[in-house]
Amino acid sequence: MNKDFLQYQAQTSPYPLGMEVSHAKGSYIYDTNGNAHLDFVAGVSACTLGHCHPEVVEAIKNQVDKYMHVMVYGEYSQSPATTYTKLLADNLPAPLEVTYLVNSGTEAIEGALKLARRYTGRSEIIAAKSAYHGNTMGSLSLMDFEERKSVFRPLLPDIYHIEFNNEKDLEKITTKTACVILETIQGGAGFILPKNDYLKKVKARCKEVGALLILDEIQPGFGRTGKLFAFEHFDCVPDILVIGKGMASGLPVGAFTASKEIMHTLSENPKMGHITTFGGNPVIAASSLATLNVLLNSNLIADTLRKEALFKSLLKHPKIKEIRGKGLMLALIMDTPETANELVLQAKEKNLILFWLLFENRAVRISPPLTISEKLIKEGCAIILALLNSM
Ligand SMILES: Cc1ncc(COP(=O)(O)O)c(C=O)c1O
Repeated sequence: MNKDFLQYQAQTSPYPLGMEVSHAKGSYIYDTNGNAHLDFVAGVSACTLGHCHPEVVEAIKNQVDKYMHVMVYGEYSQSPATTYTKLLADNLPAPLEVTYLVNSGTEAIEGALKLARRYTGRSEIIAAKSAYHGNTMGSLSLMDFEERKSVFRPLLPDIYHIEFNNEKDLEKITTKTACVILETIQGGAGFILPKNDYLKKVKARCKEVGALLILDEIQPGFGRTGKLFAFEHFDCVPDILVIGKGMASGLPVGAFTASKEIMHTLSENPKMGHITTFGGNPVIAASSLATLNVLLNSNLIADTLRKEALFKSLLKHPKIKEIRGKGLMLALIMDTPETANELVLQAKEKNLILFWLLFENRAVRISPPLTISEKLIKEGCAIILALLNSM
């Protein structure tokens, strides 16, 4: 592994995979030794259209030739961000209309929490157990894993946890609650889907007590689950939608969207209720716009469900106990954590990129680019099955 990578670039993972990347194209990442690695992870669901999609690259290059950063967020009218937020609004149900663009998923979560507190005038926040919303102080405060939180305390106060899919817990949402924040599909927990109209019931309870529902679609958004946004599967429109990751198909980005009425509260008392230098950056907005246009003008989103079915039909093995998730956000639940770990590491040796999930240690992540071909799905699955047979 490159020594300078270990010595000069701060590490927080004790065992980085350490591949030395040369370039990437489509569903492959190429290392500096000339090996092609088939990518079943897509930068942890970020490279929606694969690596260096030509329309995304062209949009970025065109924008770079015109202008890059010109002013802090929201002062100047810049067509990439304006066109993009309008196109998003055109493809979101009412009342989701106004989008605030930021730099990462976790910043979008921070913005959404601030917005919910500001709009309701309440401080209590309810999050789900085993949720992951990011790693800045506010997002970290939402997590219920003490071993990941305790050394960073004091964190945000007034945060309580409910169990995802447990209807009895809904009574914990009261007139003191500013917002309930949930991942539409729980990611780090093992790609857990909401059951029995759970999200609709949460929304109804929120409405009853005057709390806002925030849905974190940072991972499932942008077509990954077979709809543009995963909440469309569950017939539940949030008050605040949080997006990021796959939005720009590989550039750093995040955003939160709400009604005009709710979002407006960030403009007064105090004015500039959220500010950020690079939010709405024209190059990233151009990349986001190209990504969304490709998604809307192709069959990629619908094809995701066909590809899910292909994965599920191929990946049958006694060591795979279950396949969770939806579309191209799939988790193989293995017989033991050791099998999961070995599979990820041995696949690496066979030039197939797999990855772990944050909290479910029996899970192996499969979240390839939406552009992956059926042929490559078959090739990757054959590698997985051969490895499992040899274990
Ligand atoms: C559901 C969810 N929320 C929030 C985040 C944080 O996003 P970012 O890493 O861009 O800060 C992630 C990232 O993995 C995520 O999956």
